Amino acid sequence: MKFKFMAMIAGVYVVFVSLCGASQNGEILFEKKCANCHTKVRPGDMSTLIAPPMMGVMRHVKMQYATKEDAVQFITEYALHPQKENALCMPQTIDRFGLMPSQEGSVTKGELDLIAAWMYDTFSPANFRDSQQRQNFNQARGKQNSKIANSPSSPFLITSGLPHMTQTVAEYWDDSRLGLNRAQKEKLLAVRKKTVRSLQNLKSSIQELETKIIALAMQGSDPKELTQLIKDLSEKKAEATRVHINCIYDTSNILTPEQLQFLLQ
Ligand code: HEC
Repeated sequence: MKFKFMAMIAGVYVVFVSLCGASQNGEILFEKKCANCHTKVRPGDMSTLIAPPMMGVMRHVKMQYATKEDAVQFITEYALHPQKENALCMPQTIDRFGLMPSQEGSVTKGELDLIAAWMYDTFSPANFRDSQQRQNFNQARGKQNSKIANSPSSPFLITSGLPHMTQTVAEYWDDSRLGLNRAQKEKLLAVRKKTVRSLQNLKSSIQELETKIIALAMQGSDPKELTQLIKDLSEKKAEATRVHINCIYDTSNILTPEQLQFLLQ
């Protein structure tokens, strides 16, 4: 009887230890496998960072994924196969730190599940789990991702209120309600070509300038030294805005008033 009781206590103890152990293991594994690059606490000195702090990473993950299961799956997958297209962080993060190197070989999928579950439980800004906020964020993100006009760092000075004509026209290209004729299509393609080409060039110089300014600002450079770069950036963005407005003007001249109204409604 006494033996049975002891055995039961021991059994309960084993279950208890293994349950608690899972989260402890998650933390220990994180320390071993991830903490070299990702800090657990907000760092005092941002300039020495070599990867984004984990609470920031989790904020993005939780805004994107509604359930722990999905979040864990994303983290595990990302740690083994990091890809720019899958990253949830801001593009500037990758510009600054570079893409995360794959951790394949240094951590197993099983270990990652423990690490990711611990991360999810540990870094939990409750407000970001609110579904409305997540939805707003995703909507903003969806908008950001659509084509040149709103690509991650918009090249334009005016980022809302002006229609993105080439994109809207493309959506209804063969739609009988819009009813584009052949001549219109040809002209529209020419406008599109001209617009896209100018914007591509501007976009890459804008991104270069932004990356430079961000890097210098984060290194603690004297703001006065950035003045010229900021001026250059604003001139490029002004140019992109002119291209945008020209495109609206040219497109409107190709379409009939009815077609224009259909597109803008
Ligand atoms: C050698 C440094 C390094 C190590 C080790 C490392 N990371 Fe990263 N990690 C980075 C960098 C740099 C980024 C930011 C760039 C990016 O998102 O790819 C990042 C970003 C991330 C992101 C965010 C991805 C996104 O959506 O943008 C997750 C999640 C992540 N790491 C998980 C982990 C986990 C889990 C481990 C441990 C198993 C780990 N990392 C180990 C450098 C590292």
